[in-house]
Amino acid sequence: MNRKTRILSKSWPQRDATPATTINPPVYKGSTVLFNSYEDMLKAGRHEYEGISYGTDRLPTQRQFEEAMRDLEGGEVCRLFQSGIAAIQTALMAFTQSGDHILVCDNAYGPGQRFCRKVLQKYNIECTAVPPNVGADIDRYIRPNTTLILLESPGSLTFEIQDIPAITAIARQKNIVTVLDATWATPLYLQPFALGVDISIHSVTKYISGYSDVLAGTVTAGERCARTFENFYKLMEIYTPGEECYLALRGLQSLATRLRQHEQSALTVAGWLETMPLIDEVIHPALPSHAEHHLWKRDFRGSSGLFAFTFKKDYSHTELAAFIDSLDLFRLGYSWGGYQSLITAAKVMRATPSRYAGKTIIRLSIGLEECSDLVSDLENGFTMLT
Ligand SMILES: Cc1ncc(COP(=O)(O)O)c(C=O)c1O
Repeated sequence: MNRKTRILSKSWPQRDATPATTINPPVYKGSTVLFNSYEDMLKAGRHEYEGISYGTDRLPTQRQFEEAMRDLEGGEVCRLFQSGIAAIQTALMAFTQSGDHILVCDNAYGPGQRFCRKVLQKYNIECTAVPPNVGADIDRYIRPNTTLILLESPGSLTFEIQDIPAITAIARQKNIVTVLDATWATPLYLQPFALGVDISIHSVTKYISGYSDVLAGTVTAGERCARTFENFYKLMEIYTPGEECYLALRGLQSLATRLRQHEQSALTVAGWLETMPLIDEVIHPALPSHAEHHLWKRDFRGSSGLFAFTFKKDYSHTELAAFIDSLDLFRLGYSWGGYQSLITAAKVMRATPSRYAGKTIIRLSIGLEECSDLVSDLENGFTMLT
């Protein structure tokens, strides 16, 4: 045997290597996965092989994360995606077909709504927006061909809460699939399956990964939809790279501790904002002043660090820019759920009547900085506004 071939063939793959047990799981990277025998390969060809047959067959780090999420959520099957939006899109595709009508909550993540209007519509799937605080009145929007309802509670810009159990009770009677984006609450503060939801979605990009360095998303299916979803995921040959799975799994380990801090700091900042004379409304589901606070109290186990407020005055772009650009700790950027506090400002546009229509919503993602420093930062920023 050639010397180079001999040296390299010894290094890897090793048939009888003794594994080292590290606390964190190894990062599996691979396209080809080796079979131990030709018989196993033939079984894979017949879809009878129990092991992992290829890189898109979900390598071990991915499976480990999916199992942890499935168990945290109390679902039947969880699958990981390369972003939250990919998770939303795939869930919608798995449970719709040409001729269907779907209902989409008007406060759902914008790109998800856009996918319904611009992509599903191309395949003759009609989409109707329903009010963000919809409950049993969802009945009014249901047609004979309605097959799916997409919810997000609370919405991640305006924080309206839907009456999830009232909606899922009606949907089950009519054999309609309910899909809930539960990113805000994480699996720790909301248990969608206990409320009758069929499909729970998380943007893992946010609190679960926690460091703003991962894009990932999950779909977890309950009993009623598990097999259909599992088969669809396999058909699409979707997978998530090992590093992202590793980081997502690592994030899960500290989620509860981080989330408690986000929650506590956000409540402190929100409480302080309520005392500020230039603020009109602090929009935070855990505050008694929130319109659906009673629903949050009934269905949720806690609150996270994302909330919003409105000013009494309709400030110009220049005035808002002076406030936002003067902040030191709150940085300007999309996404949320990381250690860095973030701020965004946007005018609300809705297809259905909204209590915030036309208003500028200032959204804060409260990070893990010292809370008193965050308050001081905003207090300094407000001096730019009169
Ligand atoms: C509520 C919600 N769901 C889904 C997504 C999409 O997640 P990702 O950024 O991982 O695609 C976002 C992103 O901001 C979001 O806010």
